[in-house]
Amino acid sequence: MRLSLLLLVLISSSSFAKQAIVESPNKKIKITISDQSSAPHYSISFNNKNVIENSSLGFEFKQQAAFDEGFTITNITTNQVQSKWQQPWGERQTVVDHHNEVAVTFSKSSPHGGTYTVRFRAFDSGVGFRYEVPKQEGFEDIEITKELTEFAITAADKATAWWIPARGWNRYEYVYNTTPLQDAALAHTPFTFKNADGVHVSIHEAALVDYAAMVLNQRRPGTLQADLTPWSDGIAVKKQGAFTTPWRTVQIGEKAIDLINSDIILNLNEPNKLGDVSWVKPGKYVGIWWGMHINETTWGSGEKHGATTQNTKYYMDFAAQYGFDGVLVEGWNLGWDGDWFFNGDVFSFTQPYDDFDIAELTRYGQQKGVQLIGHHETSGNVTNYRNQMEDAYALYEKSNVSQIKTGYVADGGNIKRIDENGIVRKEWHDGQFMVNEYLHSIKLAAKHKLSINTHEPIKDTGLRRTYPNWIAREGARGQEFNAWGTPPNPPEHIPMLAFTRMLAGPMDFTPGIFDMGFNGLGADTNRPQTTLAKQLALYVVMYSPIQMAADLPRNYLAKPDAFQFIQDVPTDWQQSIALAGEVGDYVVFARKERKRDNYSGNDWYLGAVTDEHARTIDIKLDFLEPGKVFEAQIYKDGDKAEWKNTPYDIKIEQRIVTAKDTLSLKLATSGGTAIRFKAI
Ligand code: NOJ
Ligand code: CA
Repeated sequence: MRLSLLLLVLISSSSFAKQAIVESPNKKIKITISDQSSAPHYSISFNNKNVIENSSLGFEFKQQAAFDEGFTITNITTNQVQSKWQQPWGERQTVVDHHNEVAVTFSKSSPHGGTYTVRFRAFDSGVGFRYEVPKQEGFEDIEITKELTEFAITAADKATAWWIPARGWNRYEYVYNTTPLQDAALAHTPFTFKNADGVHVSIHEAALVDYAAMVLNQRRPGTLQADLTPWSDGIAVKKQGAFTTPWRTVQIGEKAIDLINSDIILNLNEPNKLGDVSWVKPGKYVGIWWGMHINETTWGSGEKHGATTQNTKYYMDFAAQYGFDGVLVEGWNLGWDGDWFFNGDVFSFTQPYDDFDIAELTRYGQQKGVQLIGHHETSGNVTNYRNQMEDAYALYEKSNVSQIKTGYVADGGNIKRIDENGIVRKEWHDGQFMVNEYLHSIKLAAKHKLSINTHEPIKDTGLRRTYPNWIAREGARGQEFNAWGTPPNPPEHIPMLAFTRMLAGPMDFTPGIFDMGFNGLGADTNRPQTTLAKQLALYVVMYSPIQMAADLPRNYLAKPDAFQFIQDVPTDWQQSIALAGEVGDYVVFARKERKRDNYSGNDWYLGAVTDEHARTIDIKLDFLEPGKVFEAQIYKDGDKAEWKNTPYDIKIEQRIVTAKDTLSLKLATSGGTAIRFKAI
């Protein structure tokens, strides 16, 4: 450890307060931790200006005295890390972890005292800190009623925030708000804002394990308090003996895209605990899915049943012909008839409908080189799911399935569990109980070499590093809202998600709707509010190691030229760079494919999307390797394209380019550009 790089001071002032300071490796970010007035607190500055003012730390408990006032700094340790690690799949293969750390211990003498440590890490792109509460007398059974962590935003009256409400019935599936920060009510994280100096900040958490999710409550104007989603009995978190909390994270950047080009969430998670994960497979899939959302087919049995053996074979043929790895089949199992939305008790996860022959489809898929992708909708009855989980995963493993999409459709606060005494309890999707339940499914699935794509999930906090079979999740409004949502996703939705939800991790958004006219075009119908070129750009912009081609096969066959991009684009990357963008306005990404399967590892891709405003963005191609020549295969909005009435106007052209070129991307209203740079 080179202490010279770690600016750490202990100063005694007149009030005998102690202070610890830690700076980021590039010295732009500085965290100050103090016990002034015997109340532990911290502040954060960026480029010598405060971003977070003095903010409280601590806890309140049901049984024990609070960890609030009267605590002073009794120990300080420091550390410095400069290392690299490899992702089995991801936005980039190699992740750099470079940070300075200070761990500050606060203590108060007994009786009614205690001790705890707060570990702070300063990275160039932000800050992480967590509580570590050691084993101590009187703290055998702990019920946390409140975490006292605050984020007091500097000059909050001049900041703009982008956020969705927390503790709502629709979980994370809300249209994002753009408001003065002071108008943000109880909000989910990632909570992104821009302060008076134009500095972009996003508050979130990393490694949420055996704890309640943190949402932010603006109790006083400008001061966001950590608010832990409680159990049905009102307790926030239940622990025994020593415990650590998830990392509270504050990403900080001069520009909006700096938030995206940061790996602190992953770096604050623990390394892979699963060992060899070569069985976790990124890839592309189609599925018996969109037809149900636009009412062409049904999940339940009957004439319009989507999940038939015959229909699945048709999808498997299509997948094999056009290079998809898997076919998702929803509605294959007993329980969908009747009001499945409100009755998860009746789902069987092992018994198929009569017209779905799982053994035959396993055989057929193996012959075609296409895998069945499993589906388990619980409708929020997690006890019913838990009781069948082992058998259900074993059945899928036997059926050559390597990926399952799970679903927890239920109103927020309405997850049904049956407790040890047989009493029905209702929990939140983001309380400690469900945090553990989701992870239980991941760990059990790993034993069967299955990857999980969770819908209606707990938010992502980077656990894919530790459990790489947690391959994707929903956790925001996906494409499905364009089929039936009120309203459908607005044109700014994607450039909004890029700087908010997507900071947390991959999303199974399900891009690629080619027929937007299922209810007619125009501005007032349910449909994707985008151009066709923007649907293609989603494959590069919305990172996920698994990407669906969500539309019906016939709609791809009707537009073969545009469909070519979906066939070409990979889902695993050697490198990813957010090149330009503003929150909710536009965003441009470049990504280089990672060598695997049919991908040589030489091509680059670009995706650009805009909100309701048409715009032209000049992009320097200096991310390409100098001296190398590429054929740019460009899929862009045509001259007459605008999302409302002429979304299909697309222009596909080829150009020879090198790193010295600049491309002028002309995006229509809610338009986009998708480019493959083919190395030649
Ligand atoms: C909601 C999921 O997001 C969607 O993809 C799925 O089709 C339905 N639940 C039914 O499971
Ligand atoms: Ca959903």
